[in-house]
Amino acid sequence: MPDSPLLIADHDAVRLITVHRPDKLNALNAATLDALHAAFDAAAADDSVRAVVLTGTGPKAFVAGADIAEMAGLTPVQARDFSLRGQRMMRRVEKMPKPVIAMINGFALGGGLELAMCCHLRIAADSVKVGQPEINLGLIPGFGGTQRLLRLAGRAAVLELCLAGAPVDAARAQQLGIVNRVVPAAELEAETMALAAQLAAAAPLALRGILDCVNVGAECSLEEALEYESAQFGLVFSTDDMREGTRAFLERRKPAFRGH
Ligand code: COA
Repeated sequence: MPDSPLLIADHDAVRLITVHRPDKLNALNAATLDALHAAFDAAAADDSVRAVVLTGTGPKAFVAGADIAEMAGLTPVQARDFSLRGQRMMRRVEKMPKPVIAMINGFALGGGLELAMCCHLRIAADSVKVGQPEINLGLIPGFGGTQRLLRLAGRAAVLELCLAGAPVDAARAQQLGIVNRVVPAAELEAETMALAAQLAAAAPLALRGILDCVNVGAECSLEEALEYESAQFGLVFSTDDMREGTRAFLERRKPAFRGH
């Protein structure tokens, strides 16, 4: 599609989704939110896709936030709908049945950090800055930032980032638990795609079980979550991949997981 704000490419079983509005530092307007939602629906439904990498067209930004020009003219009701639109898309990413890695190759600010936080893993180049600078615009985060940052990094960190509005560098983001890994910028793509390929070769239904357990467990009591984990543990025993994985270990060979 000539005007699509996304680039989508498959590298074997890894789907690479790139937010592509480089002249606006990949800012998320409504059309981009909708395109991302559709792209993740498609990736979820496609059995040939076993892992997803999400990034932005570089080199400057991963995503520099929600589109400020588009937001500036919204009425309160439209702003609420814009927030819901972004939140629904990000929830869709978070609840993907296959792993999603954010490859943070530049500024991840506002909606950009919110987008990275709804991914399951985050790898950042050492040169990037991340933050929730909405306060500087007289706004608050509206795509889940106050809540995902609270859950990822804790109360002190979310309050520091959102109240002060100053971005932090990659090393500090890792220290706060916001990103999983920090790598030299020149190695970001290779490192991220290698991790994605590793996940793409793992047993898909077991990956899905882990993602489901973490998503469900984040929202219920420990007792209920442990019960759910046991049910999921039992369920993977119904898969051919579980037989293959255990047999391959005992036969001292590499397993070949097929997704059933
Ligand atoms: N929404 C809309 N447009 C954005 C944008 C955003 N969040 N972030 C950057 N842009 C646009 C700029 O308006 C500019 O467009 P123009 O060339 O048509 O004027 C273009 O992207 C390049 O950005 P610019 O500000 O010139 O780059 P810079 O290198 O000087 O600064 C940033 C980079 C990221 C520090 C700066 O763009 C910025 O602060 N962006 C907003 C971050 C933010 O507040 N995000 C939260 C939004 S709720």
